[in-house]
Amino acid sequence: MKVSIIGQGYVGLTISAFAAKHYEVVGFDLNSTIVSQLNKGVSHIEGVASGDLKQAIFAGNYKATTDGSEIAGSEIVVIAVPTPLDTNRKPDLTYIDSACRVIAENLSVPALIINESTSFPGTIRNYIKPAIEKYSKQKLDHMYAISPERVDPGREDFNQKNTPRLYAGLTPEATAKTRDFYSTFCDNLIEVSSPEVAEAAKLFENTFRQVNIALVNELAQISHALGIDVRETLDAAGTKPYGFMKFAPSAGVGGHCIPVDPSYLADVAEKAGVEATFIKRANEVNLDMPKYIAGRIAKDNGGSVKGKKVLVVGVAYKPNVADTRETPAELLIDALKDLGAVVAWNDPVVGSWNGSESSPLSGADIAVVVTKHDVVASEDVLKSALYVFDTTGKVKGAVQL
Ligand SMILES: NC(=O)c1ccc[n+]([C@@H]2O[C@H](COP(=O)([O-])OP(=O)(O)OC[C@H]3O[C@@H](n4cnc5c(N)ncnc54)[C@H](O)[C@@H]3O)[C@@H](O)[C@H]2O)c1
Repeated sequence: MKVSIIGQGYVGLTISAFAAKHYEVVGFDLNSTIVSQLNKGVSHIEGVASGDLKQAIFAGNYKATTDGSEIAGSEIVVIAVPTPLDTNRKPDLTYIDSACRVIAENLSVPALIINESTSFPGTIRNYIKPAIEKYSKQKLDHMYAISPERVDPGREDFNQKNTPRLYAGLTPEATAKTRDFYSTFCDNLIEVSSPEVAEAAKLFENTFRQVNIALVNELAQISHALGIDVRETLDAAGTKPYGFMKFAPSAGVGGHCIPVDPSYLADVAEKAGVEATFIKRANEVNLDMPKYIAGRIAKDNGGSVKGKKVLVVGVAYKPNVADTRETPAELLIDALKDLGAVVAWNDPVVGSWNGSESSPLSGADIAVVVTKHDVVASEDVLKSALYVFDTTGKVKGAVQL
């Protein structure tokens, strides 16, 4: 069976690698650099081994392409393209729209179209299906389903195989075919009664994290004002064996999901006449953390960081990955610059970012740790500046958030 995956990023390539063990997979992406690397068997995603990719290519089970016509004849097409926010922090479905166009223009026999991109309830029914029908030259009875992706890049204990997967089709046939597809490489499939439930569940999972991270970030500010150690407080609360789940304070939230997905839920909520107050407040708290941190650092340094050399350590949004999407390090750099600091950054995992290169981990007046990769030694961070502020709780001996 031929399966095409639209988008070969974190989600699309991960699913392609698993699917290629069972199906003939075409990985379609608009980025020609990524496509040519993939066809050489070079993976750009943590969690997808280049060796596995090479094996799939060698077996004739995987091919990346920028040519939409290569998806023709697919029985299943999976959409895994970005669903970011626009400049007004509203859902931006332009990538989904362009994926729909490619599908519509190149499929000439009915297929099962599954959306794995995160979006608001109603996306498959009211957006993707009508868009594909609008762009198709002929009337085809495609089946449509949703199976939101839950992959956590870089994580080793949970992967495509053992992470429970939600799914639902627009019709019973679509639901059954979706189950058949994923059951070849997922152990735990959970059918829900409608695509909207699966879409809403995915958004709520990440909203739950966003709101709790904001809550704990507010607690960090309260604790500091009261002279209490926030991490010890959280450890103490975490000894309760039920009814409590521990979240850690941080410089904010990053990545493609936590800072973005809740706003998809807020947008549909508002359109339905319900104000998503928790989501709004959580966004505010998390987005303000870099300013709060810059203010704390200035206060500890005689009230000003003007002209001081500040090194931001770790610009990836989480440890041990090179992903800088929506990283709070960016807002922190802006906040420090606004206070007059001369800011550089160090991150050996990221290497180059925003047109600049990682600076040496030394010679700063002030260092502030946003993300602590395993390859970065705490002793080296402590030696890198006269004053070190740690937002991660991992650099013992530094001033803690
Ligand atoms: N990264 C995660 O951890 C994660 C987890 C769960 C869900 N998601 C969701 O999955 C979706 C994809 O996220 P990602 O992290 O894989 O994004 P990504 O940026 O890593 O990859 C997306 C890829 O799609 C390509 N692309 C964009 N438009 C295209 C088009 N029209 N046709 C073909 N290719 C196109 C891009 O070139 C890129 O390579 C998003 O909705 C995201 O919210 C991501």
